[in-house]
Amino acid sequence: MQGPLRFLRVLAALLLTAFGLAAGVSAQTAAAPVAPAAVATPSGGIKSANIFEVKPDADADPNYANQTNAERAKVQPGNNAPIWRQVGTGVNGFTSLPKSEAPEAGNLIQPFVQYPGSRLTNAGEAWRQVRNNWLIPYGGAFLLIVIGAIALFYFGKGSIKLHGAETGRKIERFTPFERSAHWANAIAFCILAISGVVLAFGKFFLLPVMGLTLFGWLAYVLKIMHNFAGPLFAVALVIVFFTFLRDNMPSRGDLVWLLKGGGLLSGKHVPSHRFNAGEKVMFWGGVFFLGIIVVVSGFVLNKLLPGLVYERGTMQIAHMVHAVASVLMTALFVGHIYLGTIGLEGSYQSMKTGSVDETWAKEHHEYWYDDIKAGKIPVQRSEPVPPSQTAQA
Ligand code: HEM
Repeated sequence: MQGPLRFLRVLAALLLTAFGLAAGVSAQTAAAPVAPAAVATPSGGIKSANIFEVKPDADADPNYANQTNAERAKVQPGNNAPIWRQVGTGVNGFTSLPKSEAPEAGNLIQPFVQYPGSRLTNAGEAWRQVRNNWLIPYGGAFLLIVIGAIALFYFGKGSIKLHGAETGRKIERFTPFERSAHWANAIAFCILAISGVVLAFGKFFLLPVMGLTLFGWLAYVLKIMHNFAGPLFAVALVIVFFTFLRDNMPSRGDLVWLLKGGGLLSGKHVPSHRFNAGEKVMFWGGVFFLGIIVVVSGFVLNKLLPGLVYERGTMQIAHMVHAVASVLMTALFVGHIYLGTIGLEGSYQSMKTGSVDETWAKEHHEYWYDDIKAGKIPVQRSEPVPPSQTAQA
């Protein structure tokens, strides 16, 4: 039995070896037909460089700065400065991604540009310089000066009081529709202003108090709120604009009112129509002019304008315009909010309840009051609320 068994074992071993070799060779042939050259260079084409052949004085060559990456690699292997210089100057590479979906996929670093207030450098860096050297310090300082001036005025002169006694007779100043439009606008503005201020300046006054984690979350939440309140503000702004447009048209007495500063310093009453020239400046400057700029630039930043290619350059310009216009707008509205609350007695009531006392109307908007007395403007423009409902409220 020993003889045949041994023979079978040897036969099996021979067969296995033969199959194994055949399978190995065929697998190799099918997987990759090896090129004769590759066989000659087992390192896969990578050439070695002798560091002792590197030229330390390669930069003495007058053409050194203009060398291509290939030329540089010959004299200084591993020095990829030429290719990074190209990347840094904003050279576009090739990409098969559609421009509509990825407009800048082939471009790592933007080309050189000089934004107002920046050096001539890559656009990203230029934008950073404008933001950090101008918008943040001067925008912040400007807002602080405005708030400081208002505070000085308030603590120096106090709020503007009524001179005469109230009559108890009411005139409707704002209809429920006008008030709803105004408050929608005001609420959206407050969300935008608070979130905007924290996003831009919070790093200086909140981050040291709250710490990174909490401030990070706060900024994240406020950024989302900012993005949602923006469109609401835009819609409310358009409604407010058309609602108050007629009474904000220039009229008799506006120039005198402006020249006398509305009597704010003298304390002497300057007559005006339904809205005085100061309110008209706020309307045309803040609501209309700055409103359009802030809303359009905000829509660009929110990528809400159809048909626009949203490149980094577009966003940088939109951001700078948005920042300047919204700081100016905030300064104007801070003044408006001051006069609409603690700065002028009785004004907040008009926007809250919709009506003012005859004395208030006479002292602050005399021409408007005269027109009402003359029957040119109705005392009550909206449907009066039934007394039963007023009592319940
Ligand atoms: C908390 C914020 C605000 C408060 C407390 C406030 C308060 C007031 C008050 C009391 C009035 C009535 C003034 C009067 O009787 O002559 C008023 C009018 C008005 N407010 Fe505001 N407001 C605020 C925010 C805003 C904002 C953000 C805007 C604009 C985007 C705005 C636009 C207007 C306009 C257009 C008028 C009508 C007067 C005019 O056309 O000049 N308000 N506001």
